[in-house]
Formats: sequence, structure tokens, C-alpha cells
Amino acid sequence: MTDKATLTWGAGKSAEFPILKGTIGPDVIDIRTLYANTGMFTYDPGYMSTGSTKSAITYIDGDKGILLYRGYPIEQLAVQCDFLEVSYLIKHGELPTKTQYEDWVGRVKRHTMVHDQLTRFFNGFRRDAHPMAVLVGVVGALSAFYHDSLDINNPEHRIIAAIRLIAKLPTIVAMAYKYNMGQPFMYPRNELSYSANFMHMMFATPCETYVPNPVLVRALDRILILHADHEQNASTSTVRLSGSSGANPFACIAAGIACLWGPAHGGANEAALAMLEQIGDASKIPEFIAKVKDKNSGAKLMGFGHRVYKNYDPRAKLMRETCHEVLAELGLQNDRLFKLALALEKIALEDDYFVSRKLYPNVDFYSGIVQRALGIPTNLFTGIFALARTVGWIAQWNEMIADPEQKIGRPRQLYTGPTTREVVPMDKR
Ligand code: SDX
Repeated sequence: MTDKATLTWGAGKSAEFPILKGTIGPDVIDIRTLYANTGMFTYDPGYMSTGSTKSAITYIDGDKGILLYRGYPIEQLAVQCDFLEVSYLIKHGELPTKTQYEDWVGRVKRHTMVHDQLTRFFNGFRRDAHPMAVLVGVVGALSAFYHDSLDINNPEHRIIAAIRLIAKLPTIVAMAYKYNMGQPFMYPRNELSYSANFMHMMFATPCETYVPNPVLVRALDRILILHADHEQNASTSTVRLSGSSGANPFACIAAGIACLWGPAHGGANEAALAMLEQIGDASKIPEFIAKVKDKNSGAKLMGFGHRVYKNYDPRAKLMRETCHEVLAELGLQNDRLFKLALALEKIALEDDYFVSRKLYPNVDFYSGIVQRALGIPTNLFTGIFALARTVGWIAQWNEMIADPEQKIGRPRQLYTGPTTREVVPMDKR
């Protein structure tokens, strides 16, 4: 027996809508027949109360601070698995066996190089171009190189496109960094692990041998796991909406990168570090907090707050631990910004303004500090986020394409503009 929701309006009008249940989490009211039955749309700017799809990939409980990838708690995955293992889980729905893992790693490693002509795209950018501008352009351009994997209705094309994107994003992000630095691109080294290979492409030069520090490699791998997927966030919804028109996966991922760039979303880690640099010293925290409380200042506590988490973001806790590990490994336990971040977090979580609004640190609050300690420049933080989230984006895109219920996304509106009127010739206006 399906529960129903009844809507009543006007003079005794009513309509019923089925209530659908998931495995865990809030039920949904299926309003697909609302307009046909009532002549009305729903109104939900920012989709605060709207479920856009069914999905079996990631579950978030914002009140309890729970994050599951395919049912596995992020706390276990971040400690017991590596990023490619988690990418297999997110894409296929199950943790890989040893054989499946080795096959997956082998397939990814065979696609880490980019077409040599792709390197020419970089020369069109200024050396100081923001890496996210470069990523949007170069990832979008990938569709011009892979005509053999653009048929989105062919499952084999979809899997090879997924592997190419997972394999090539680290290479392209590292190339964006090298281009900014004026250093030569470093080719992937397939004998290295995924994260060690990325660090090699970032920090090695042709002049000397570079051996990635295993503690730092593990920290980076965990950062990628923490950012891999996150339900129907803004950039994932962008990828899904782009894909719903039948656009190819490379173009859809480029759209996701563009959306992630915003400071309210993936750009927050870069903004959070800039905020800490701007505060400068713990003695200036009260002054900054007062500014944040003044709505007219427009100042926000970057790296705090979340649309879904109204408790501590579980990723922020793991990121703070990773911060400790990396700073200890580098002998930076007294890192000025980390101590400032800890002090700011303590003060904010004791301040009713933030507690009453359920504003807690999110994944971006500590990720900038640990990436800076890893030697990653601030303007590349969101690029690393995009590298990791490509796994979630491509899994969500695949889930949408394979969903028999999926249609082209086309929201409606509440129109508030002028009613019909006649054009007046210009000489009479
Ligand atoms: C990510 O969706 C995802 O899953 C995203 C993400 C992912 O993995 O994909 O988790 C990654 O984007 C994390 C969020 C990173 N962004 C930031 O850290 C930027 C700072 N945060 C805010 O911009 C904000 O918290 C949002 C955008 C994250 C969420 O905003 P909401 O849900 O729209 O909440 P809101 O703006 O309605 O805020 C409610 C209240 C408001 O005050 P009042 O009008 O009630 O007085 O809280 C205030 C806001 O002004 N508020 C903040 C604040 N965030 C919200 N005040 C100060 N500092 C902040 N950071």
C-alpha cells in the first residue's frame, strides 16, 4: 500500500500524490503529475526541498553528520582503502576483489597520457591563467579527441570515457600547474600509484630524481577520497543536467568543473585559506567574527556551513586529522595558519551566531591548509577537488544515462515579468 500526500487548494480542490520510500533517508512526494492535475508548479529556489533523481551512490545524513559511498562510511573508506579502490566502488557499486582492483588500476594506468596535440591548448592561455579556467577549456576539448567513446548509449563507450577522465584529470591538473610555473610538463609514470604519479607530475623536473614522500602521498590519496562524491551537490547536478540533453561526458565534466569553481562550492577551500591569511593572527579573530555577523559586510566564514550538514561535516574531521599527520611529517606542527584555523573553529563553535545557524566546518575548512603544506598552490586547490570529484561526476552521469526514468532536465518558473504588450515604433517611444 503506497502512502499518499493530499494537496488541497482553492474551493475544495484536492489532488493526491504517492510518497516514495528509499532504503534510508527522507521519503519523497512524487509530484510528477502535479502540473497536469493542478495547473501549478512547485517553487523551490536552490532546490532546498527537491529531490532531482533516485540514486544509489552516496547518502548523506546532514543532522547526524553521516556520509556513505555505496553504504560504506567515509571514516572506514578513508582509512582502509585507496582512491582508485574507492573510485571502483563509486562507479561499480561494490568494493573490488584483488583481481578486479588490479584490472581497474591497469586500465586506468593505460590512459594516463593525453594526446600530444592537447599540450598545444595550454599555449593559448596566459601563464598566470587560473588553473580552473584551463581545466574547463582542456577537459572540454577532450571530446574533440575521442570520437570512439562519444556514443552515450553504448555502455562500452561510457566505461572507456569514464576511465579516460579518471586517468587523465591528474595529468591535466599537473600540466596546468607546470604551465603556470613555466616548467616542462612531466609525463605520467605508470609504475607509481595514482596519487604518487600525480605528485611526481606536479613536483618532479627533468633535472633531478623526485621520490614522492609516502606519508604525503597517503595524505593526498585521502584528500581525493574525501572529495570523490557528495550526492546531488551543485556541480554534480550541473553534470547531470548537461548529460540529460545527451551531451558527451567530456563536455558534461567540463560543465561540472565550471560550477565547482564558485567560492560557495568547490572554490571555498581557496577562499578559506585566503580568509585565514587575511585574519593573520588569533588576536584578530573577534574582529573578523564581528564582521561576519554584520550582514552588510558580506563577509562569510569560508569553509563553514553547508546546505545539508547541520552538524560537523565528517570529512572535515578526517581532513583535520590529515592536517595533523602532514604537518607533523613536515615538522610544521606549529604551522601558523593551522593554529589559527583551530583557534577560529573553537571560537566559532562556542558562538551562538554560528551554533544557532548550525554552521560547522565543512570539507573545505582544513583542506586548504593541508594542500598548502603538500606544496600545492592555493589557486590549484579547486583543481584537486575537481580531479577527485570527476569520479563522482562520471558515476552520477552514468547512473543518470542508465536510468529509464531520466528525461532532459527542464525546470519551469514563477513568471513575474510584464504581461503581453504591443511593440511601439522607436520614434514613438
Ligand atoms: C561544498 O552541496 C555540497 O555537498 C557541497 C560540497 C560537496 O562536497 O560537493 O560539500 C562542497 O561546496 C562545501 C561548502 C563550501 N562553501 C563554503 O564554505 C562557503 C561558505 N558557506 C556558505 O556560503 C554556505 O554555508 C553554503 C553555501 C555552503 C550553504 O548555504 P545555504 O545552505 O544556502 O545556507 P544559507 O546561505 O541559507 O545560510 C543560512 C544562514 C544565513 O544567515 P541568516 O540569513 O539565517 O541570518 O547562515 C548564514 C547565512 O547568512 N551562513 C553563514 C555561512 N553560511 C551560511 N554565515 C557566515 N559564514 C558562513 N559560512
